[in-house]
Amino acid sequence: MIKLIDRWNQSHSRIPNNKSESNYAVEREKLFPRNSHVLDLGGGSGTDAVYFAKHGHTVTVADISDVGLTRAKEKAKNEGVELSTAQVELGQQPLPFPPNFFDIVFSRLAIHYFQPKETTEILKNIYEVLKPSGITYIVVKSPDDKEEMDFLLATANQISENVFEDNGEIKSRYTKEQLSEFIKNAGIENFEVKEYVEDLSGRVDSVKSGNSRFILNEIILRK
Ligand SMILES: C[S@@+](CC[C@H](N)C(=O)[O-])C[C@H]1O[C@@H](n2cnc3c(N)ncnc32)[C@H](O)[C@@H]1O
Repeated sequence: MIKLIDRWNQSHSRIPNNKSESNYAVEREKLFPRNSHVLDLGGGSGTDAVYFAKHGHTVTVADISDVGLTRAKEKAKNEGVELSTAQVELGQQPLPFPPNFFDIVFSRLAIHYFQPKETTEILKNIYEVLKPSGITYIVVKSPDDKEEMDFLLATANQISENVFEDNGEIKSRYTKEQLSEFIKNAGIENFEVKEYVEDLSGRVDSVKSGNSRFILNEIILRK
């Protein structure tokens, strides 16, 4: 079975250099306080992170993939901005940052690879590194995306409620109710979980399913 890190390294080596920043990043960056300290968790090869840095924020990308992080650094250098990187395996270790460190924790499509217990622990870890008055903007895939769910049901094994095993990799598609339960179990009281539909049209990178939009669940945690 191919190791998780190798799988993601292969994936990042295929990403085009001119991949566009996500619409989610563009929309949510408008809500960041100016000159924020931002963590992009599972930020891969840094497209959204570089977009944030170009808008004046101090940004760290954390990801399992060293290939992704190296590409993120190169991209930042080419664009004339600074970026910090940290290699981390979510679900296996706490975040390598002090408590109360970031104004914003942003994470797009990166914390939906875990079982309920690990997801709860990851949410707890995210909350710990958030500064008082900090906020998260996190999106994960939703079971309400019928096309994505049909694809998963046809190609992966369901191992528990909304958790799938796809060639050795876990993929979760939790409902808003499940996510809310995990957040409460992490001891977090001030939060919202709501649907977010991301328009994918006009993007440089292709989406495997060929869909023109993602139906996602957004997790906002406030400290
Ligand atoms: C679907 S990609 C999303 C990348 C980027 N956030 C975006 O929106 O384009 C998932 C990201 O999560 C990272 N990732 C997957 N599993 C991880 C883990 N256990 N720990 C840390 N990062 C992980 C991958 O390397 C990849 O960069």
